[in-house]
Amino acid sequence: MIILGLNCFHGDASAAVFRDGELIAAIEEERFNRFKHSGGFPSNAVKWCLLKGNIDPREIDYVAIPRKSNSHILRKLIWAARLPVSSANRIKALKNFTNLREQLASCFGLKPIDIKADFKFVEHHLAHMASAFYTSGHKNSAVVSIDGMGDHASMVWGVGEDRKLTIRNYVYFPHSIGFLYTAMTQYLGMKSYGDEYKTMGLASYGNPKYEDFFEQIIRIGKSIDFKLDLSYFIHHSKGIDMTFKTGEPHIGTMFSEKLVETFGYPREPGSPVNSHHKDIAASLQKRTETVVLELLRRVQYSSGQKNLCYAGGVAFNCVLNGRILPETGFDNLYVQPAAGDAGLAIGASLFVYHHILGNPRKFIMRHSYWGPEYSNDQIKNTLTNSGINFSAKEEINISDYISSKLADGKIVAWYQGKAEWGPRALGNRSILADPRNNDMKEILNQKIKNREDFRPFAPSVLEEKASEWFDGATHSPFMLITYKAKKEKIKYMPAPIHVDGSARIQTVNKETNPLYWNLIKQFEMKTGVPSLINTSFNESEPIVDTPQQALETFKRTNMDILVMGNYVIE
Ligand SMILES: [Fe+2]
Repeated sequence: MIILGLNCFHGDASAAVFRDGELIAAIEEERFNRFKHSGGFPSNAVKWCLLKGNIDPREIDYVAIPRKSNSHILRKLIWAARLPVSSANRIKALKNFTNLREQLASCFGLKPIDIKADFKFVEHHLAHMASAFYTSGHKNSAVVSIDGMGDHASMVWGVGEDRKLTIRNYVYFPHSIGFLYTAMTQYLGMKSYGDEYKTMGLASYGNPKYEDFFEQIIRIGKSIDFKLDLSYFIHHSKGIDMTFKTGEPHIGTMFSEKLVETFGYPREPGSPVNSHHKDIAASLQKRTETVVLELLRRVQYSSGQKNLCYAGGVAFNCVLNGRILPETGFDNLYVQPAAGDAGLAIGASLFVYHHILGNPRKFIMRHSYWGPEYSNDQIKNTLTNSGINFSAKEEINISDYISSKLADGKIVAWYQGKAEWGPRALGNRSILADPRNNDMKEILNQKIKNREDFRPFAPSVLEEKASEWFDGATHSPFMLITYKAKKEKIKYMPAPIHVDGSARIQTVNKETNPLYWNLIKQFEMKTGVPSLINTSFNESEPIVDTPQQALETFKRTNMDILVMGNYVIE
């Protein structure tokens, strides 16, 4: 049975294909069309996924779409009547979802009638929840999704039991933790779609002195719910001005004049970040943590479950995630690598396969390497055609050679195997550096990334050594949870440790990424440190996909070495 999952006409458009419940391929459209968080129809991602699975589009049995227009229809209609979004926009949005068969067929030059698949529509948060639960390997689990909004809800929780996923409760628009975080991120002058992680990074530098104020802005209810003080926002009165075209999505201003009266004039993008901004970020982060942790505690109590599968954009808040196990009563936490809307393509597919069709579970997402891969021949052709000098090395020697260069302080672009699913580079499309050098963060920022100095870099750590270096860290393959570094260890790897003593680590497993594991192991043998700084291989663009893009990014920046497959360029 072939199921194609599509997140389309929404941020982070993506495609995923399953054969008999096993994931074959998954990728975000942005990797192909080069627009960050691209919306629209993911034509390139669909084509690549089917090609990878050697699947004729006429063979697809189900197309799973993470949106259900008739869910919560009364609420949607009431708000649609209230909000001043033009009916032309609404009709256009609706039309996109009524001619999906045509759009899918046109990707392959086929007629709509050629696509025999049954189209199944799955509610947004059910798809988020399914993306975490059905890939977690847990037979039973509490399942929570928190984001800005999808199908009119912003937080949904329920329980997963084997093949079934049952919703217990919703929190509806306009009350939304995701929108609160987005609105404050906009106020802090970071206005691009998906900039919330910058606010989280900034928060560690501030003092949460406005916490009381944020307690007024977002109040926890009596049940597993919360409410915003809507006077500080405009999304409920003017509507959400969102564009999800093929290019980078955009969200219009969400905070009100009252917020400006309270905190002063918003920070202009690109202007200096001062202590006031840092304190606002810190207060927002602290309150978000307090609210979500309390809600999760109640979910744990109410469900009686010991496992938590967690998804939605808010699940990218890895500082908050680091407090979940110590503070909520859950024993296990699973966050899927594409916890945001890209992951909906996987979630909708698995919901159809298990919940709707009742098929047994077998797939577990043990790694994130589900994207495109280029052969050594393709890499060699790119290099030969470019006229650049390069050398070939046996795979067995590469780790030894490159680990020495890293130990000498060189910055290495490391391009190997299949691209990662989700926003984090996890050792296949990564820029790597020596974590022992405290200046490395500054060097990386100046030479390559040119990004805000308050944003931390994160380390990859050998999985079997993680608990020696970080409190409570055993298995965290997707870089979505922060851990406190052991105090006595910080001096040996200061560069990727954030100002608050924590790091968003990736644990590297010998079985799921042997090449990357071996590189770090060789580095450890030379230096005593089982870790490397790992940041995504890109420069103000989506993570590189093709060898050509990798080479162009390498040439444009001041990195020292590019390794692609068995080839080394210095
Ligand atoms: Fe979402």
